[in-house]
Amino acid sequence: MDLFQKIEKLKKEKNAVILAHYYQDPDIQDVADFIGDSLELARAAQRTDADLIVFAGVHFMAEGAKILNPTRKVILPDLRAGCSLSDSCPPDRFRAFKEKNPEHFIISYINCSAAIKAMSDVICTSSNALRIVEKAPKDRPILFAPDRNLGRWVMEQTGREMTLWPGSCIVHETFSERKIIDLKTANPGAKLIAHPECEANILRISDYIGSTSQLLKYVIESPLDTFIVATEAGILHQMAKKAPTKKLIAAPPNQNCACNECPFMKLNTLEKLANALETEAPEIHVPESIQEQAKKSLTRMLEWSN
Ligand code: 13P
Ligand code: SF4
Repeated sequence: MDLFQKIEKLKKEKNAVILAHYYQDPDIQDVADFIGDSLELARAAQRTDADLIVFAGVHFMAEGAKILNPTRKVILPDLRAGCSLSDSCPPDRFRAFKEKNPEHFIISYINCSAAIKAMSDVICTSSNALRIVEKAPKDRPILFAPDRNLGRWVMEQTGREMTLWPGSCIVHETFSERKIIDLKTANPGAKLIAHPECEANILRISDYIGSTSQLLKYVIESPLDTFIVATEAGILHQMAKKAPTKKLIAAPPNQNCACNECPFMKLNTLEKLANALETEAPEIHVPESIQEQAKKSLTRMLEWSN
């Protein structure tokens, strides 16, 4: 039996569901029951009636699934699959800011730990950040954490001043403006599409900005045929599958490296996924002391983005 067959068999036996983010390896995307961006994955985790949720993504995503659907067992193929953006917001520093600035309404990007979610008023993702910020109370200052690039872009779009937490994603800060401009020159008519976690100089020259699902939808629906894609390279797998006639060019990083691949996402492999399914481990636990509060800010996001 090969790994694909083994996974299919275990999935049925255990009434399991595999939820995968677009940044996962193509093999993992191909065995997933559901592929989505952060918001869609949170919704899928909340509504599933599977007994076991295998989260093919990173730790904060699996934690979010457990918070939203606490009676299910949630497993992550590799427990070390973290996130540089989440790590840039340590709970002790965040708590210190909150205590010093109690008047701030706190909007946290979903790429943060459960402890940060528990200290936030509402969560957002890249697909609903504009809507969430527009709904925030007008009479209170806002702290937007932890992604400064997404925060700056949201400020420009909404005109709402916010204090930005100085965090960022190592993958989305890797793209080379000079190399992208060279590519645009070599491919006249190519559209640059970017994730809002990219730096301001890249967003400024982009033709379209959106979450992973929004970028995918744009490529599928656009009448144009060439796209330079500035986000983690894993998304190209679904783009190529869903829009096979389009020419897709991964935006190049500054260095000669594979830095446009998220090293955390890529810790999950098909083999680890099969093992996790078989052993039902490593399991995600969220301390009871923060579960309730974290659920409030996540649920508020889901309500505000409906
Ligand atoms: P979205 O899938 O919500 O666009 O987020 C991208 C990301 O960085 C996930 O880690
Ligand atoms: Fe975190 Fe960036 Fe990887 Fe997304 S791509 S999981 S934000 S490090």
